[in-house]
Amino acid sequence: MVTNSKWSPQVQSITEPLRVSDDQIRKVMSLLLENMKKGLGKDTNETAKIKMLPTYVRATPKGTEEGKFLALDLGGTNFRVLLIDLKGRHVKMSSKIFNVPTEVMTGTGAGLFDHIADCMYRFMSAEGILDQILPLGFTFSFPCKQMGLASAKLIRWTKGFSASGVEGEDVARLLKEAITRRGDFDVHLVAVVNDTTGTLMSCAHSTPTCYMGLIIGTGCNACYMEKLENVELWDEDRGEPKEVIINMEWGAFGDDGALDFIMTDFDRHLDENSINRGRQRYEKMLSGMYLGEIVRLCLLKLIEAGQLFEGKMPLVLKKKESFYTKYVSEIESEPDDQVNRGAKILKDELGITNASRDDAALVRYVCSLVSSRASALAGAGVATVLNHMERPMCTVGIDGSVYKYHPKVHKLMTETINRFVDPKCKFKLMLSEDGSGKGAALIAAVAATLKT
Ligand code: GLC
Repeated sequence: MVTNSKWSPQVQSITEPLRVSDDQIRKVMSLLLENMKKGLGKDTNETAKIKMLPTYVRATPKGTEEGKFLALDLGGTNFRVLLIDLKGRHVKMSSKIFNVPTEVMTGTGAGLFDHIADCMYRFMSAEGILDQILPLGFTFSFPCKQMGLASAKLIRWTKGFSASGVEGEDVARLLKEAITRRGDFDVHLVAVVNDTTGTLMSCAHSTPTCYMGLIIGTGCNACYMEKLENVELWDEDRGEPKEVIINMEWGAFGDDGALDFIMTDFDRHLDENSINRGRQRYEKMLSGMYLGEIVRLCLLKLIEAGQLFEGKMPLVLKKKESFYTKYVSEIESEPDDQVNRGAKILKDELGITNASRDDAALVRYVCSLVSSRASALAGAGVATVLNHMERPMCTVGIDGSVYKYHPKVHKLMTETINRFVDPKCKFKLMLSEDGSGKGAALIAAVAATLKT
């Protein structure tokens, strides 16, 4: 992180709350562990904020899986349909990205699933596979209570989705109904999976020491392989393998106020003006849907205090979400002492013509504080899970735009984990691209071999 000595006392006092100390990280870790245990406990799960949802995925791939699979990936602003051909460790994929318009995200459930079925039809038609009934893995990246591998009830929407009539319903059924309504193609839906689980499976396919999956993208969440004996809610077969992947839904950490001690005025303002007020508090400090907005709110305060743009408020920055998270990644992509990209973004993208180089440097400083805090908090989460698993070696498979495109998140997370992990637990953070698609196909394939 850039040192703060060069900034005026006013800049320092406005930005100081965005720093997290080692003591605060320790407190975050012990609270997270407490919350995890609450989520896993039979009597405590009901009131737990972190739901620790069993996924019914109990084995990682062996690398011998074979077959042709379809996968769907819904969870952010884009929706993807994929066709995956597995031949052992060799994977062939083709895919197409479709847009999910805001009116579809926030309209009716039937409208949303009709849109998904329509995209599937268009993809399958282009691939010439409309006449085949292929096994389908559906990556649906929202908190779901799994009723089995191929049945999952949405607990509640996150990340800006709010389509009506879906919460509390089985999304596998809603998808099948939409396909039946059309009647011009069919699939065999074998698994509904979270993107974290897909990422873990996809990483484990090439790296057998992978026991944890993490997403830092539009949203933020993690999953890991837990011993069945710790999963009190598991009332299925307790035979081999004696493990199951738990979708933590850790984005909801702090929804009972547990993280208030590190929340800033910017976090509170963001939460109060979000569509899911009071929810996903940890996610709101970490993920791509929110980082740019936290930066914007801090910039507003600096402008009002006369510390930025000579105190003149650019209209554009008054608009909610006008400072994109991708700007944070771009601004921090050049060497620490340079501000060319930032100056260009301020001028060309945001149309702020009176920005000086000092202004661009201060904007960069705020970006670095927000991304460092996110990295430290994500690192704290990973270290907590690694310590809890007590595995001698764990590879963490990670995907998501913030992890992938921010130039420092990997390094900063690694530093935090190194400081707080038990030295007996060795780890490696590994980019696991395409987890949501490839992982869903692998889960379908593993399910076929285990006959879950
Ligand atoms: C949100 C969702 C979660 C998902 C994460 C990353 O936190 O609730 O299910 O894994 O975003 O996409």
